[in-house]
Amino acid sequence: MAAAPIEFAEVGPLWEKTYSPSFRIDDEIWRQNMVVHPAVAASLRGPGWIAVLKGPVPEYGGDANRFHLAAIAFDSPDSGQAAAKAAVQSATGLGATSLSFGQDGDHIWPGVPHDHPHLIAALESAGFTIGGTVDDLQRDLANYSPRDPAAISPEFRPAGTSDESGLMDYFTREFPGRWRVDVMQQFQENPARVMVWEVDGNIEGHALIQTSDTHHPIGGAIWRNDLGPNWGALGSIGVSARLRGGGSGGRLLDASLLELSRRQVRECIIDWTGLSAFYEKYGFTITRKYQSASLTLATP
Ligand SMILES: CC(C)(COP(=O)(O)OP(=O)(O)OC[C@H]1O[C@@H](n2cnc3c(N)ncnc32)[C@H](O)[C@@H]1OP(=O)(O)O)[C@@H](O)C(=O)NCCC(=O)NCCS
Repeated sequence: MAAAPIEFAEVGPLWEKTYSPSFRIDDEIWRQNMVVHPAVAASLRGPGWIAVLKGPVPEYGGDANRFHLAAIAFDSPDSGQAAAKAAVQSATGLGATSLSFGQDGDHIWPGVPHDHPHLIAALESAGFTIGGTVDDLQRDLANYSPRDPAAISPEFRPAGTSDESGLMDYFTREFPGRWRVDVMQQFQENPARVMVWEVDGNIEGHALIQTSDTHHPIGGAIWRNDLGPNWGALGSIGVSARLRGGGSGGRLLDASLLELSRRQVRECIIDWTGLSAFYEKYGFTITRKYQSASLTLATP
């Protein structure tokens, strides 16, 4: 029989011991992402530690045997190492060929928070390789003024229900994986959460813009409690490959930030990005850093 899911009451105290206050989670987030989520593959527990494994989301495409260490919390360096080893053992038993820290569907973590040395040591002791860095960036959007005045144009606008087929065509062509699934899910709940760039009747760019009325924000697990009540989030953002580098991606970003500002957003996050230099041009500063961590598993 499968082990019982780990409820928030069990993980909460361990979470506080493992992570700094800027990575607070809550009952609702934990339940959505780690208790009732269909990708949860194993809920593991031992003395002073818990760990949750998730499998892949089939709709994203990609490697069907790539599993994720979606959550881990522990009360001492030794129990951290025990948790990481148990996670690797369990993933192997489930037939995983690789195990990544975070990056799961409805993830908490885009990578290992870089300022948590006990966690990094625990992962390394279990055989994980620590790799490249991604960032979260933030800025206050009160009275946002666009960097490029050409961003104020009907070409850049919130989507409406009639954009559904145009958006699907665009995503199928340009971003057929995870972004298509995540953005269209938010579009179904509220089309105005998607900004579009329209050229001659075709959609050539998108930006997902989320605000505090989003009950199940994409990527919102660890930051929404830290941003304050009028939080906003931008991303994913993209434009058609053949049109990049001509100023439109920047204008779409500008128009999307202006729209978030009009919706009364104050602190806005752009999470899980390797393009910090792009966003820094628009006044964002890096607030958190993460390192990727993954492990290739021996196949039986
Ligand atoms: C990121 C993206 C939306 C930018 O759109 P774009 O049309 O190529 O960018 P623009 O030509 O409008 O550039 C606007 C400004 O940002 C800068 N910029 C663009 N891409 C950059 C990058 N990767 N790194 C640093 N600066 C960048 C440009 O130099 C320009 O600066 P300037 O106004 O001072 O000259 C586009 O390249 C894209 O769709 N990429 C693939 C999807 C992606 O990676 N999205 C971001 C994920 S976090």
